[in-house]
Amino acid sequence: MIGEYNQPSSGWRLSVAPMLDWTDKHCRYFHRLLTRRARLYTEMVTTGALMHGSVRRHLRMDAQEHPVALQLGGSEPRELAVAARLGEAWGYDEINLNCGCPSERVQRGAFGACLMAEPNLVADGVKAMRDAVRIPVTVKHRIGIDRVESYDFVRDFVGCVSEAGCSVFIVHARNAWLQGLSPKENREVPPLRYELVYRLKQDFPHLTIVINGGIQTHAAIVTHLGHVDGAMLGRQAYYDPWPMTTWDADFYGEPPQPLTREAVEEAMVAYMEQEAREDGTPWYAIARHMLGLYHGQRGGRLWRQVWSDHRLKPLPPREVMRMARAALARGGVAQGINGPAGR
Ligand SMILES: Cc1cc2nc3c(=O)[nH]c(=O)nc-3n(C[C@H](O)[C@H](O)[C@H](O)COP(=O)(O)O)c2cc1C
Repeated sequence: MIGEYNQPSSGWRLSVAPMLDWTDKHCRYFHRLLTRRARLYTEMVTTGALMHGSVRRHLRMDAQEHPVALQLGGSEPRELAVAARLGEAWGYDEINLNCGCPSERVQRGAFGACLMAEPNLVADGVKAMRDAVRIPVTVKHRIGIDRVESYDFVRDFVGCVSEAGCSVFIVHARNAWLQGLSPKENREVPPLRYELVYRLKQDFPHLTIVINGGIQTHAAIVTHLGHVDGAMLGRQAYYDPWPMTTWDADFYGEPPQPLTREAVEEAMVAYMEQEAREDGTPWYAIARHMLGLYHGQRGGRLWRQVWSDHRLKPLPPREVMRMARAALARGGVAQGINGPAGR
């Protein structure tokens, strides 16, 4: 299967999307237990947050997370260069520039999807970052903004930015509508047009083109990898993470890893204990990211309810795990008797 795919860019074959408030350090730790090879992305960190806020809070990561990319939001080349240098110093493997986020706050700060209308500014930013760091500098963008439907728009954007030395483009295959839609609606309403992303790969065969948006199944990943170099999954990977355990074997040719949900939960509890000791992090700030672990499994909903029960916050996570496992077992039995309980 591997041999069929485009070779030079296997570093980007599969990835989990940057998601604000979701793909924090704890989420990435969890995902890394499920796949050793897929590339992980941070939430977007703005250059302003790094200039004026706590660098440690934004950039702290775990040695196990690699390969992991820092996604930046910003447009001022000098600030991007400083932020990229920080990212490299904190150990990130890639700097990714956000040119796809449609939120109004981001528009006012002159970054995100509105940057697609300013490819020269993006090119300057890319060049400044490339001059500042040795790790790859990549761009994540949309296929267009507002009602611009023509392929030429995204082709010219990629052409211009690639001339500045960016060779990896992650393309969310829908437009961003900058007026009138919430960020959430902007991930659902503008139609997906995968064929435009495939066309980018045909027109720029030397570039690494990664497709993103609405990818939900193993079969869909396989289809996309027949056309482009990589597939990035966001919401599906977050809500139903277990399929990621097949990725290393199926898409990277690694020997299959015997892995159980129980072992992953156990490892997460050990991590919660470590984070509480070392950083004072409450377990529920970590547990919220693993609530999809038993997605679709018997008793899974009851298991999830225990891990998200606010009343249990004072308990140690190991105790919560014990209760969650008991609920899972109860749910499994109930489902056996009564049909699909726990859904
Ligand atoms: C909660 C949430 C937060 C997001 N935050 C970011 C972000 O910080 N940077 C970014 O480039 N995209 C962000 N996105 C968009 C995703 O990276 C991705 O492009 C989008 O969800 C489409 O992929 P999917 O259909 O696989 O989820 C976010 C998406 C979600 C659901």
